[in-house]
Amino acid sequence: MAGAPASFFGDGASAISSYVDILASRGIDWGLIGPREGERLWERHVLNSVAGAGLLPEGASVVDVGSGAGLPGLPLAILRPDLRVTLLESLLRRVSFLELAVEELGLADRVSVVRGRAEEHRAQYDVVTSRAVAPLPRLLGWCLPLVAPGGRVVALKGSTAGAELEDARGLLRRKGLVGEVHRLVVPVSGEETFAVVVGR
Ligand SMILES: C[S@@+](CC[C@H](N)C(=O)[O-])C[C@H]1O[C@@H](n2cnc3c(N)ncnc32)[C@H](O)[C@@H]1O
Repeated sequence: MAGAPASFFGDGASAISSYVDILASRGIDWGLIGPREGERLWERHVLNSVAGAGLLPEGASVVDVGSGAGLPGLPLAILRPDLRVTLLESLLRRVSFLELAVEELGLADRVSVVRGRAEEHRAQYDVVTSRAVAPLPRLLGWCLPLVAPGGRVVALKGSTAGAELEDARGLLRRKGLVGEVHRLVVPVSGEETFAVVVGR
């Protein structure tokens, strides 16, 4: 599957292929990616990460909360050279992996890596994104303080998106915020996935 999915990234085709190689080698060796995930990196992780790229405004500053091995932050940064991306991750080994990957992929001019917990981070961004980190109500508790005025949270979710949004309704009402589920199509595979977008 390596040819077609890489070409979806246009000028970033070579960078995204290098990133997938890094995930399949160091990512598995360092225990960030399960050994059985090697086969499914493109569909399940890389292409899934960019399904919501259209929800990010041109030129936005973006923080990827709980970035792990760089998902969705690194595929988004490669697909969208207009974005400035911060990868926020609490675990040292993952941070070391991210720093090496950013350097090797030549993205250091607009992708930075920060070690820290989201709830202790003190900066604001146009978009706060996150994938597979925590249920929406807890995630919003961490992410909402990181949203700059006029910005939004874009939480990548699977089929639980609607139920998680219902669980967060009370919190959103108290804060005067609006939440919506967006149905997304994963590029190349055509699979369905979802994002919850929260803003004013
Ligand atoms: C299941 S992994 C998901 C990683 C990646 N987002 C993905 O989709 O593959 C969750 C990641 O969130 C990080 N994490 C969990 N709680 C966090 C917090 N409060 N602040 C920052 N990172 C956190 C973990 O260390 C882990 O790397």
